[in-house]
Amino acid sequence: MDIKKLISEMTLEEKAGICSGKDFWHLKSVERLGIPEVMVSDGPHGLRKQDTQADHLGVNDSIVAVCFPAGCAITSSFDRDLIRSMGETIGEECQAEDLSVVLGPAVNIKRSPLCGRNFEYLSEDPYLAGEMAASYINGVQSKNVGVSIKHFALNNQEHERMSGSSEADERTIREIYLPAFETAVKKADPWTVMCSYNRINGTFASENEWLLTKVLRDEWGFNGYVMSDWGAVNDRVKGVLAGLDLEMPACGSDNDELIVAAVKNGTLPEEKLDLCVERILDVIFRYADKKTGGIFDRQKDHDKAAEIAGECMVLLKNEDQILPLAKNEKIAFIGGFAKKPRFQGGGSSHINCFKITDALSASEGKAEILYAEGFPSDQDKEDEALFAEAVETAKKADKVVIFAGLPDIFESEGYDRQHMRLPACQDKLIEAIAAVNPNTAVVLHNGSPVEMPWVDSVKGILEAYLGGEASGEAVSRILFGEVNPSGHLAESFPKKLSDNPSYLYFPGKRGKVYYGEGIFVGYRYYEMKETEVLFPFGHGLSYTSFRIDNLKVEKTGESVSDPVKVFVDVTNTGDRAGKAVVQLYVADHTETEVRPKKELKGFAKTALAPGEKKTVTMELDHRSFAYYSTEIGDWFAAGGEYEILIGSSSADIAVSETIELAADQKLPFRVKSTTTIGELEEHPELAGLIGEKLMPLMAVFGNEEEDKTEAAAEAINDEMSKAMMRYMPLRGLRSFNGAKNSEVDALVETFNRALDQ
Ligand code: BGC
Repeated sequence: MDIKKLISEMTLEEKAGICSGKDFWHLKSVERLGIPEVMVSDGPHGLRKQDTQADHLGVNDSIVAVCFPAGCAITSSFDRDLIRSMGETIGEECQAEDLSVVLGPAVNIKRSPLCGRNFEYLSEDPYLAGEMAASYINGVQSKNVGVSIKHFALNNQEHERMSGSSEADERTIREIYLPAFETAVKKADPWTVMCSYNRINGTFASENEWLLTKVLRDEWGFNGYVMSDWGAVNDRVKGVLAGLDLEMPACGSDNDELIVAAVKNGTLPEEKLDLCVERILDVIFRYADKKTGGIFDRQKDHDKAAEIAGECMVLLKNEDQILPLAKNEKIAFIGGFAKKPRFQGGGSSHINCFKITDALSASEGKAEILYAEGFPSDQDKEDEALFAEAVETAKKADKVVIFAGLPDIFESEGYDRQHMRLPACQDKLIEAIAAVNPNTAVVLHNGSPVEMPWVDSVKGILEAYLGGEASGEAVSRILFGEVNPSGHLAESFPKKLSDNPSYLYFPGKRGKVYYGEGIFVGYRYYEMKETEVLFPFGHGLSYTSFRIDNLKVEKTGESVSDPVKVFVDVTNTGDRAGKAVVQLYVADHTETEVRPKKELKGFAKTALAPGEKKTVTMELDHRSFAYYSTEIGDWFAAGGEYEILIGSSSADIAVSETIELAADQKLPFRVKSTTTIGELEEHPELAGLIGEKLMPLMAVFGNEEEDKTEAAAEAINDEMSKAMMRYMPLRGLRSFNGAKNSEVDALVETFNRALDQ
């Protein structure tokens, strides 16, 4: 299709028209030019295709589809192949349902456990979120269907999501909030990006040229179209100028007319509009030209959803090997979630499920199972009769499994959680049951961390997350040991909400939320502050055990830009087949900048038979060592020592090795009259000049008559004068040493000349 030619045949009105939706889910067609009408649909963990009545909050029904594990769960698999394969299936479903673009993945960083949409989001860690997003996208798009990676960017809460401003500094934005998008763009070429509702440092994402054009296209090379989140457009013409191609949903004709008027009055160059049209048409034809169609085999996809869910759930605790359950045991299942699991969140990702399977039915015939409801699972309210019945049932069993979790109303798009607790009735029941039956395990159904005041009272905890419509089957398989759990946490579970670094600022007031914790999100903060967590990032147990050893780190060159190859052995030391997640963290010991203690820079999941050993290979690149330097406006890795740490969680490091790398770039440094002597001293090439030119002028700090009567006083004086010197800017020579302005200026010049050589 010659798109440029097509555009040359379009009227100005037709071009403006293409830049907004036809209705809630369709883009416009232009029949006379053969531009077809295409449909987009939510996403991300299944299809929410609304055939008839449309809305963006999942209120009206959509077609019957298959609900896969939500973002919180699928990311815990730490399995790129698995999420890719889920993407492939969703891509096939789109082909069968004639959908050109699926609206997802949603990759915003989990800044606070309270964000209402955390269940859809992938991780607190940008590297993990980026890798998983890229694999999902590659899966969907391999079926010639596009994705819309969302919500770009800094949409980390629901409170005031359509108007509020996320206030963050550039380093934080670059290191924490953008990389998931960046990796996805660079590794998977998403067909579209959805800009978020919120403002970023005052400017709406939908009219943010820095974000939509400079960063996304010029720096990362994005070549698809940007669409607005539903209703995110503020000033349409500013949006076009900034790089927002498509407004969704339909806008009546108002904004189209504004575009036409702006072109006519010269405030919007027509080429800018043409560019938007070109990008939109390009994606329309990418789909339309190679449409394959297909069959949506719901049962097959449901079975796949069950398998995937089994790979995601995280065994948090398993004392005395309370799990797996044995066939000859009498088991009590307590809690309504055993019969009616909570497996998806509310809002635009809500799926009209083909089939929902529950753990109780799925466990039929596997053991003798007693059941009691225990509490109303749709609200925060105690029911005395249910409570008493549950405690009695628990007494009769060898082991108890309590199916706890957050009621639907606690977690949804549109609003944030008010607190991090389970309903009080559930916390109370868990304690009461653990008191009458020491063999108690808890299965949790929630999209984001909860506090667990009963953590020490129970022997087992399985985090099922929101595992999709087949989560009941997966839970049952894990409980009975048919599937060996292999999920690991993609987020830290703090002990209490106030331990979380965003606590002081979240969710902000009067239209602003300040990201005051900066780059210290999740484990980056807890590790730095030595704050004990309930369960650390990356944690996850198995019914077997693994040993990680024999680390080999191979440099391919001396510089931070030469790839570093990492080899490590992982052995299944138990008696069951299982899957190990090997995590690689990098710690910067160069002391050049304030950095987290360590950051995830690699991971691999591998299946091992009992006794089997495999060597896992991972590769690090410049970015694995770098931080974002606002001084140079780019990623920078200093020369010096870096430690490579490998383990099965952020808190369980098995092996590590330190390597030395040389910088391949220097941070810019110019001497000014405000440069301190300490800063000068950090540059070895200036040492000679410091001794020769500066020291003679420094009499007051070194050569003064010292009172040598008392040794201690001398030491303090010495420390003090050293510190005074270290922190004194060159201009201080005027006040303390009687230097003239011209002498200071000459000194500055001398140092800069030396640096230039
Ligand atoms: C959500 C998006 C969703 C869109 C369409 C918006 O409210 O933020 O994630 O794709 O609605 O349903």
